[in-house]
Amino acid sequence: MEKFKVLITDHIAEEGVKILLDSGNIEVEEKPGISHDELKKIIGDYDAIITRSGTTVTADLLENPGKLKIIGRAGVGLDNVDIEAASKKGIIVMNAPTGNTLAATELTMGMMLAAARKIPAANNSLKNGEWNRKKFMGIQLFNKTLGIVGLGRIGSNVAIRAKSFGMKIVAYDPYIKKSKADSLGVTLFEKLEDLLKISDIITFHTPLTKETKNMITKKQIEMMKDGVILVNCARGGIINEDDLYEALKSGKVFTAAIDVFEKEPPKGNKLLELDNLFVTPHIGANTEEGQKGVAVIIAEQIVNALQGKSYMNAVNIPFMKSQLPLDLQIYFELIEKIGKLAAQTIKGRPDEIKITLVGEKFEEDICERTFDTPFSYQPFTIAAIKGFLEVSMQETVSYINAPYFAKDRSINVVESKREVYDKYNDLLVFEVVTDKEKRVIAGTVFNDNEGRIVLFDDFRLDIIPKGTFIYFRNYDRPGVIGKVGTILGSNNINIAGFELARQSGGEALAFVSVDNQITEEVLNEIKKIDGMIEANVVEI
Ligand code: NAD
Ligand code: MLT
Repeated sequence: MEKFKVLITDHIAEEGVKILLDSGNIEVEEKPGISHDELKKIIGDYDAIITRSGTTVTADLLENPGKLKIIGRAGVGLDNVDIEAASKKGIIVMNAPTGNTLAATELTMGMMLAAARKIPAANNSLKNGEWNRKKFMGIQLFNKTLGIVGLGRIGSNVAIRAKSFGMKIVAYDPYIKKSKADSLGVTLFEKLEDLLKISDIITFHTPLTKETKNMITKKQIEMMKDGVILVNCARGGIINEDDLYEALKSGKVFTAAIDVFEKEPPKGNKLLELDNLFVTPHIGANTEEGQKGVAVIIAEQIVNALQGKSYMNAVNIPFMKSQLPLDLQIYFELIEKIGKLAAQTIKGRPDEIKITLVGEKFEEDICERTFDTPFSYQPFTIAAIKGFLEVSMQETVSYINAPYFAKDRSINVVESKREVYDKYNDLLVFEVVTDKEKRVIAGTVFNDNEGRIVLFDDFRLDIIPKGTFIYFRNYDRPGVIGKVGTILGSNNINIAGFELARQSGGEALAFVSVDNQITEEVLNEIKKIDGMIEANVVEI
């Protein structure tokens, strides 16, 4: 059995380590707190690394990734992993998004109560010998409006719990369906401002993205009610820390409860000087159950991925072939081969690749992606791009990096859907336009469950794309085919299949499937046949 090595760079629960060790072929090394430089030196010796928020996985760290195949994040947030850099190196990035949801939800509830009743300050005051009941006047949660920014896993669970306190819940999340908010009994606002204006308490549960960084600055705080309470157990940087400082000082914000900071640990952060700010050191996920949860999930996923089994939560693999129904898996393989064939038969630099899904088979829900990746291509497009690019590229093209390589090469990728195409009800059409020419190749699957190429530009064909072919175009006149046969025969090359198609314009196209390798000399002989327009060997 192939042996693998996994490096754990932050502390994770032992239940996760045990799963890796019990797998039988995984050796584990734990180096919590390893420095960036040290990690860079050794990262390539491991098949997978497991991190938490303590390790920042940068492009520089992945410059020479050696045998690294997987970056596993024991937690939700991936703001500490350069997903694009990993994808370009073909490395799978996966997280454990559900393991600590309730841990973070419950901390949020605790922080909300702590901020509303100033519990941490009251605790410190009493322990410092004071008995000052007047100083710790709080506000009641009942009947107050809670604004939830980000109604995902944690946001939704906060909503459910806050309802039992008798709070009115409103939310802002431009990426969820209204029906989800409705089912939670939450009013979903179109604009963040609307939530800011009416909420008594606002809690943040979004990832840190370009959009959410500094989502709350002085301008947004000014829109809020006087005496608002803010809670952030999501990511530092969502609320601008300087502006929060001013608002807490002025009393515009009554209290704030913060688990996460722009820079962690927040050494020297002036926010920590304020009496009306309550803080915890990024412990949202720190419950026995939460830590066990993420460790077990990430360990199981890594074992499965390394052992070639299907796994969940890869954020840079937009789909899993094994998750497609069997008939669509055949189409998936077919379009990849079509991409390969197109690359071997077209001249010039590609400007555009267009994939058209034809027929009801390719329902959107089958192809729908559940992962947050920079590309939203459906599986067939990625397979097609992969097949096309791997012919010309030195690097190993994978389903992960193919879309990035296409983007780097400024290839415009277009997807479309049609009811019918030509005489076909179910078809995948691959069109590529280069600076020199255009090619259209289409394939379908018949009842024998074999993927077939049925259209090649204006030619109708029936080819099972498997093996070595001589592809040629010639003027449609007697003798050409015979001469090809003679050349192959005299060179002891066995013809396994012959597919010929003609065009009204007087051109013919042929794919000759052969059992043996075609040498340069044989190909040159074929190219010299009178009436030959072009000839090439293609491997599919
Ligand atoms: P999730 O993906 O289930 O939910 C995030 C939600 O934010 C999604 O519904 C998404 O649509 C929404 N969103 C994205 N961009 C938005 C925007 N611009 N405006 C409004 N909404 C937006 O994630 P989750 O599991 O609920 O985690 C939420 C956050 O909590 C993440 O940042 C995660 O890293 C963090 N987290 C922190 C801790 C901790 O220790 N403090 C623990 C777990 C999770
Ligand atoms: C997460 O994103 O899962 C949390 O921030 C917890 C962690 O980093 O450990």
